[in-house]
Amino acid sequence: MDAKPERVLSGMRPSGRLHLGNYFGALKNWVDLQEGYRCFFFVADWHALTTDYDDTGDLQTLITEMAVDWMAAGLDPERSTIFVQSRVPEHAELHLLFSMITPLAWLERVPSYKEQQQEMTHVDLGTYGFLGYPLLQAADIVIYKANWVPVGVDQVAHIELTREVVRRFNHISKSEVFPEPAPRLTEVPKLPGTDGRKMSKSYGNAIYLGDEGEPLRQKIMTMVTDPARKRRNDAGDPDVCPVYDLHKVFSSDDELKWAAQGCRTAEIGCVDCKKVLHANLTEMLGPIQERRRKILADPDSVRDVLEEGSRKAREEARKTLDEAKAAMHL
Ligand code: TRP
Ligand code: SF4
Repeated sequence: MDAKPERVLSGMRPSGRLHLGNYFGALKNWVDLQEGYRCFFFVADWHALTTDYDDTGDLQTLITEMAVDWMAAGLDPERSTIFVQSRVPEHAELHLLFSMITPLAWLERVPSYKEQQQEMTHVDLGTYGFLGYPLLQAADIVIYKANWVPVGVDQVAHIELTREVVRRFNHISKSEVFPEPAPRLTEVPKLPGTDGRKMSKSYGNAIYLGDEGEPLRQKIMTMVTDPARKRRNDAGDPDVCPVYDLHKVFSSDDELKWAAQGCRTAEIGCVDCKKVLHANLTEMLGPIQERRRKILADPDSVRDVLEEGSRKAREEARKTLDEAKAAMHL
């Protein structure tokens, strides 16, 4: 028999429809990892509550919308366990167990703790739940004995904490219940939004996986370009142009050369340049949107996937939790 495949786990806060930044920053990598790993992917709805506890009205819609885009992008419920965190209460029980052995100082020194408290002034983050956030994340990961956690650099400190908690738990309980997980960093291309700033839902500059037709064309055609290129006859500099950054992701080498050269010599206009980008983007999004339409035609299917995924996840989580409790003589 083959050795057991290594396990991959990752989660995303329920942010609704996903954009190209989410796709290239995380989701694409998840889809690729399904080949060759036992994968668990979950909607981190409890994590959303650590910062947005006073605004939960849209939560179910955001969860469903995000799950639709996950599957449209190629997450496959036949191959991956796709679930919702709060439907697997075992995460919370392991979090509690971990809270007994985790020194407060470990949590206070996680960089995101102070940073986010300073940035998010509209909400009081002096809560117990917000401090414990990375520990809940540790429980999320190790309750499935994950070996690899695909995340962005901003999350590496949380994986590091997870490793420390695992070592401490295994040491205190004289067990080897939990393996130490490692981050699996995604190489993220520079992906500006339509205004040239980093693509982000909150900036209102995002191109969504579900954008198509005239609205998509409009987004591209009104995109910010090299600000020095005011008239058709002005030469431009592709290296300062967000449209060109998107070309690097969606266009062929020949097209890239054509755009850069044409821009610098004013042989092409920005409209020409954007038309090619639009065509390539439309082509790349085609299969995703086809799957998206099929999923949306049968909205119950998404609910069923999350329900069945959560049931399966719970079975796995239960096994690990029982081992952890036994190791602590509970
Ligand atoms: N903290 C992650 C984020 O904000 C989401 C998350 C929660 C997560 N639990 C996780 C990611 C476990 C990876 C593994 O993006
Ligand atoms: Fe940007 Fe293309 Fe216009 Fe040059 S031609 S400024 S690369 S949109």
